Amino acid sequence: MHSLSTRHFLQTTGMLLAGLVLAACGKQEPAAPSASAPAPAASAPAPAARVYVVGTDAAYAPFELQNEKGEIVGFDIEVVKAIAQKAGMEVKFINTPWEGIFNSVAQGDRDLLVSAITITDERKQTLDFSEPYFDAQQLIAVKKDSKISKFTDLKKLKVGVQNGTTGDEVVAKLQGKDSANIKRFESTPLALKELEAGGVDAVVADNGVIVNYVNNNSDSKFKTVSDSSFASEQYGIAVKKGNAELLAKLNKGLADIKADGGYAQIYTKYFGAAPTPALAPAPATAASK
Ligand code: ARG
Repeated sequence: MHSLSTRHFLQTTGMLLAGLVLAACGKQEPAAPSASAPAPAASAPAPAARVYVVGTDAAYAPFELQNEKGEIVGFDIEVVKAIAQKAGMEVKFINTPWEGIFNSVAQGDRDLLVSAITITDERKQTLDFSEPYFDAQQLIAVKKDSKISKFTDLKKLKVGVQNGTTGDEVVAKLQGKDSANIKRFESTPLALKELEAGGVDAVVADNGVIVNYVNNNSDSKFKTVSDSSFASEQYGIAVKKGNAELLAKLNKGLADIKADGGYAQIYTKYFGAAPTPALAPAPATAASK
């Protein structure tokens, strides 16, 4: 009787111990995260995903604009959405005035900026940029009957620009920064409205935006004037200086969509033609001669 109860005790204890060891093992598993761990079942509540806040000045069609429903759409938006999908990032776009847009990322109110932002040495001092995703150049908009035929014709004329843009910079260089003939507007559409109203003789802004506006506003009776003296510009996605982790994600996603045709598809949707070779995926070595 005595021996039997001792054996029973030992058996029970053994089972309990085994159970404890198993339980301990089971508990340890989730504590050691593994990159190859399968995704949790759909029924399990997913941990709240980090949402990256994207700032954009959505008055710059076709790159960023608000549609009739007030949604932020455009080429830049689709590019960032495609990048985010590749990088497994959740993104949310917030309309952010151009004035103060760089500050918003420096202060942490925005995680990244996509806003047809030209990568410049000056901006690189306070922000980090992704690899370029679009080539651009300044372009002049004038009334159809204007005699203006080149950039230097604007030397003594009233010129509308969006404050703090590269368009502002080139005109400031031509006329002098403090020239009273530079009319600086909060947005590019406002500058173009002023051209229509006759308040300025020309508007200088990014070619894609000028062309889009002229094509879609035939009532304004504008034409474009190009000038080979304008430097080539490249757009980049901006992040807070030093945010290498986010930058790496964006660059990887951008390389992925350039490689798999996703970028070309968005480009063609907005610009009606395939991207220029510089931005097209690098040709496979086998295909090049
Ligand atoms: N590319 C020009 C610049 O970086 C103009 C960009 C303006 N973008 C905008 N969404 N308003 O200065």
